[in-house]
Amino acid sequence: MPTFYLTTPIYYINGKPSIGHAYTTIAADILARYHRLCGDEVFFLTGTDENSQKNVEAAQKIGRENDMQGYLDEMAGRWKATWKDLEITTDRFIRTTESDHLNAVEKFWKTVETKGDIYKGTYEGWYCKGCEAFVNEGDLVDGKCPNHLTEPARIKEDNYFFRLTAYRELLLHYIEEHPDFILPKSRRNEIVSYIKDFMTDISISRSSVKWGIAVPGDESHRIYVWFDALINYLTGVGYGTDEKQFEKWWPAQLHLVGKDIIKFHCALWPAMLLSAGLPLPKHVFAHGFFTIDGQKMSKSLGNVIDPLDVVQIYGNDVLRYFLLREIRFGEDGDYGHARLEERYDSELANELGNLVHRVCTMTEKYFGGKIPAHTPHDISVAIKTYHMGLEMFAFHDALDAIWSLVREANLLVEQKKPWVLAKEEKTEELAQTLYTLLELVRVIGVLLLPFMPKAAQTLLSKLSASPASNVTLDDLLVWGQLAPGTLITKGDPLFPRRETTT
Ligand code: MSP
Repeated sequence: MPTFYLTTPIYYINGKPSIGHAYTTIAADILARYHRLCGDEVFFLTGTDENSQKNVEAAQKIGRENDMQGYLDEMAGRWKATWKDLEITTDRFIRTTESDHLNAVEKFWKTVETKGDIYKGTYEGWYCKGCEAFVNEGDLVDGKCPNHLTEPARIKEDNYFFRLTAYRELLLHYIEEHPDFILPKSRRNEIVSYIKDFMTDISISRSSVKWGIAVPGDESHRIYVWFDALINYLTGVGYGTDEKQFEKWWPAQLHLVGKDIIKFHCALWPAMLLSAGLPLPKHVFAHGFFTIDGQKMSKSLGNVIDPLDVVQIYGNDVLRYFLLREIRFGEDGDYGHARLEERYDSELANELGNLVHRVCTMTEKYFGGKIPAHTPHDISVAIKTYHMGLEMFAFHDALDAIWSLVREANLLVEQKKPWVLAKEEKTEELAQTLYTLLELVRVIGVLLLPFMPKAAQTLLSKLSASPASNVTLDDLLVWGQLAPGTLITKGDPLFPRRETTT
């Protein structure tokens, strides 16, 4: 069985999850569900980045700096609970304060040190706590970090350094040889120029910081939080604790990240792996950022959206659908409730929900609720586009492919007018039309399983076509599986029309 190991970033827990964090995690969940359906053995990792100064400051703000572990336990619990409420199907939720991670980081550090890639030096520069990174003077705008709009701190310290520049040529060569390593393409160009022209050795310890993993053999230093955090991708599948498991899963198929953290994932991380003699992940995909009604989402603007608030009103399926439908994956976009409601009304309630309801109603009316005789039909183009979309992380293309079938079915209803066929007693044509419609609806339900798991299950159960757990997507997508004579159950509309106040 092919394996598919995918990860999200591990998030800082200085606040609760926002819809931005949910975006990455939901996208990863769709892929995890898709690959499980394809018959792959999947390992889906997410978790929390706990050794960051950002977390320490958040604890300080509420007077809990002396109870760091307690604060982190509580916050990690909240994040875990949110993913559970969002029905995210992770295989492991990793925390970087867990003991197996400490082992993994120590092992990794020692390996890189033995390789000769760690040396002691002095660092002087600007440090942005928001980025948890040193920033170049040239990148500051009016003396402030352009991402966090805060003044970085001037730091001068004796640190341990990682010989990142030793991997410049190897990295460039690897990226050239593996055009699908960094996706989308536009990000690859950005990284290549960074590696070529700007990348320097990087300081990987702090002597001024108290919270974090101690440098092996030098308790006076804590390991730089990004160096520790990236290693979670190895810990998650057994590095340093379970070599058999590690061999099974590493290298990861996909690290899914936001565009804000690609330098870490596409330059530092692969160089760390090369230094440790480990293979590189197959893909790093960096998606875009979205604004909220046109504005940057930020605590100071007070426009941070809690995904659970959205789910409470519209449900998980609608949130998942909207996020992946509205923004072309990889590009920047905007989130707005008004847009979500527009798409709900036109695409979910009208196009999809109404189709399913009409087809079931007509089956009841003309065939006593029983599925009529088989009719062949070709859906291969939509299915190919769907697979290609999901293989290349183009969720919008996969959704377009599903909607091409939704629209085809609606068009068929309009063209064939089953009520006229019934009136004219063209029974055979009526049966053929309804079988085609019912099968189209079934196929749509199957294709929607990774995107809108609950709605898809409900849809399929109306047709008595709930998939058995051991059947693969390819099997389910063979045309003509609805057995003639089977009784359908119309039930309530899938996406009821919203009550509008106007
Ligand atoms: N802890 C680091 C990651 C370490 S991974 C080894 C970190 N954490 S974070 O909490 O700041 O999360 C950043 C990620 O959250 C982004 O890369 C992206 O995946 C997601 N997003 C947060 N806000 C977002 C938007 N407004 N839009 C899209 N994604 C967003 O960085």
